[in-house]
Amino acid sequence: MDKKTIFSGVQPSGNITLGNYLGAIKNWVRFQEDYNCIYAMMDMHAITVRQNPQELRKRTLDLLKIYISCGIDPEKSLLFVQSQVSEHAQLAWVLNCYTYMGELSRMTQFKDKSSKHADNINAGLFTYPVLMAADILLYQADFVPVGKDQMQHIEITRDIAERFNSIYCKEGNPVFKVPEGLLAKSGAKVMSLTEPTKKMSKSDENPKAYISVLDDFSVIANKIKSAVTDSEGKIEYRPDDAEKAGINNLITIMAAVTGSTEAKIAEEFCGKGYGDFKKAVAEAVVEEIRPIRERYDELSKSKDYLEQICRSGREGAEKISAKTLGKVYKKLGFLV
Ligand code: TRP
Repeated sequence: MDKKTIFSGVQPSGNITLGNYLGAIKNWVRFQEDYNCIYAMMDMHAITVRQNPQELRKRTLDLLKIYISCGIDPEKSLLFVQSQVSEHAQLAWVLNCYTYMGELSRMTQFKDKSSKHADNINAGLFTYPVLMAADILLYQADFVPVGKDQMQHIEITRDIAERFNSIYCKEGNPVFKVPEGLLAKSGAKVMSLTEPTKKMSKSDENPKAYISVLDDFSVIANKIKSAVTDSEGKIEYRPDDAEKAGINNLITIMAAVTGSTEAKIAEEFCGKGYGDFKKAVAEAVVEEIRPIRERYDELSKSKDYLEQICRSGREGAEKISAKTLGKVYKKLGFLV
């Protein structure tokens, strides 16, 4: 009963990549043993960038299937779709009134995304971190596993929680638990295959930059084969050398999928050619993805089962989040 709570989620805004899997979802599976885990599909965050409705619907279900195929067990963890639990939007509005424009304008993701989508710098893109704070705070999460790029959003979540608690809970008994970010262990950060100094992103316009866990195996092999490397021709792991970014990335991927270390992989392939190494990486990646794909294909036939997971996830999430929102409304002076 005393288990700590973990909360995290992914946006259904693109193809789930090998980076999402190795950097995030694979760790989430392990957390299930020791924590009370809640994992959501963040479709409300996804609409800060224009989405095609049919695709969004499909990707949300795909994401659920991927979570389960990767080993997240709906019997152990709470899985739900963000937009189906109205408390997220409700708390986000409240927290908007406790967040400063100045804080939000310092968010690097906002600056990045608004330069990328200059034709659609909407208010949702700006208040995105507030919705994320609502996601986390509703569930009184202790830990939030995220990538480095999301750490700033965890910081602002903590600031908002502390601010609210200090205004309304002076006598103690805080409404919000102040969560901690949990950075994925090193070795799991997967970079783009075409520009290996950038993180592998599921929303990259160039599909050759990422490996989707739903790519055909031959496509995966081809993408790895054409991954950017260097002209030095040496398989050496030099994490601080930008010239080596491509090879470093392939070594990292190989280490992550085989459960080895970068040093061991570099030693093992020392003196080999890039072509042979890429072939070995492709084979190892395909072997890692194969069982996930088999389960995914199996789940694709079980629409009823998936609907039932969504339904019970929604009920479970509502129960927890309504409790927190009720406390917030009471503190604010809303009639409850
Ligand atoms: N912003 C996160 C991302 O893009 C997704 C997300 C939304 C999230 N709400 C969250 C992650 C709450 C952790 C907790 O990766």
